Amino acid sequence: MSDIITFAPGRVELLGNHTDYNGGVVLSAAIQLGITAKGRHRDDEKIVLTTEGINGVVAVSRKDGLKPRDSWEDYPLGVAEMLAKAGAQPGGFEAHFSATLPLGAGLSSSAAIEVSTAVLLNRLYPFEISPLDLAKVCRRAENEFVGVSCGLLDQVSSIFGKKDHVIHLDCRAETVDLIPFPTDLGLLIVHSGVKHALTGGEYNERRAQCFEAARKMGVAALRDVTSAELAAAKLPALVKKRAAHIVGENERVFQALTFLREGKGDEFGQLMTASHRSSMENFQNSTPELDALVGIATRQKGCHGARLTGGGFGGAIVALVDLAEIDRLSEVIASEYLSTTGHTGKAFRCLVSDGALAAST
Ligand code: GLA
Repeated sequence: MSDIITFAPGRVELLGNHTDYNGGVVLSAAIQLGITAKGRHRDDEKIVLTTEGINGVVAVSRKDGLKPRDSWEDYPLGVAEMLAKAGAQPGGFEAHFSATLPLGAGLSSSAAIEVSTAVLLNRLYPFEISPLDLAKVCRRAENEFVGVSCGLLDQVSSIFGKKDHVIHLDCRAETVDLIPFPTDLGLLIVHSGVKHALTGGEYNERRAQCFEAARKMGVAALRDVTSAELAAAKLPALVKKRAAHIVGENERVFQALTFLREGKGDEFGQLMTASHRSSMENFQNSTPELDALVGIATRQKGCHGARLTGGGFGGAIVALVDLAEIDRLSEVIASEYLSTTGHTGKAFRCLVSDGALAAST
């Protein structure tokens, strides 16, 4: 049997920061960079995993039961385990992973490795599963096997992405809409050079604070709260700030949907910058490097707005820019970032791309 090759893209989050696990709404897009898995079937029960750039082979047997090992292989192993729990019967397999996506940039390398594994296993051991349920299996791997209580944004983006389209995910209704991305605008991603790692505990801590706010306000999730209701609520100061970020982000996503449909790029961009400000002040998931990058980007002519993208605590920013200016802005922002902070940032144009099901051969 010949090898199967799957590709799962990373994603860029455009608005709706940390709203996914609060029953909220998000705008994102799949990007051209991702993780490729090349794999084949094995007749025994072994799982053999290798990856470019990390020496060594991980070999485990399904017979011994799959257990987390606190290493990169927990993502594919977790997916194999959760697929089995979902009723699929993946047996032994070999997989070799290679990445074009920078790891730890907040561009969802975790979801990309999960989704590339899930699509690979779906091809090696075919079973009926909807794209949304496949995304949920991958999230479950991350929640229950890896131990990060993430929402559904990353896995949905990696699976549902569509070339030149923004993904609108409603996490409560569990619906995905695809909206054309304006043809005169471009997305510039700039990696701060400072890694973000969600296993550090801040992510789960923020999630707990959001849940505390919802509980104290007597609602199922912060999705149910408006800015006016939050302003009138009596909550501990820190919890109120966290909630303000989520409530504001949901409202910004709804406004952005209108702007996107009306082709109002500048207004959309201003919402992105407002989102970053809220990350700095309310959610405190930014870093001095991300703040510096957003400051530099938003001072440039041709840039409509910028914000951190993804979980935060390091990683990358995304800027909405005039397409005609994208190469110039990419150089200017990276060079100003180096001269003001001493850090080397990596700026590249984001091509809004297809998700894993369309991108895998
Ligand atoms: C990470 C998580 C997502 C989402 C974002 C923040 O990428 O994996 O589920 O919560 O952070 O919006």
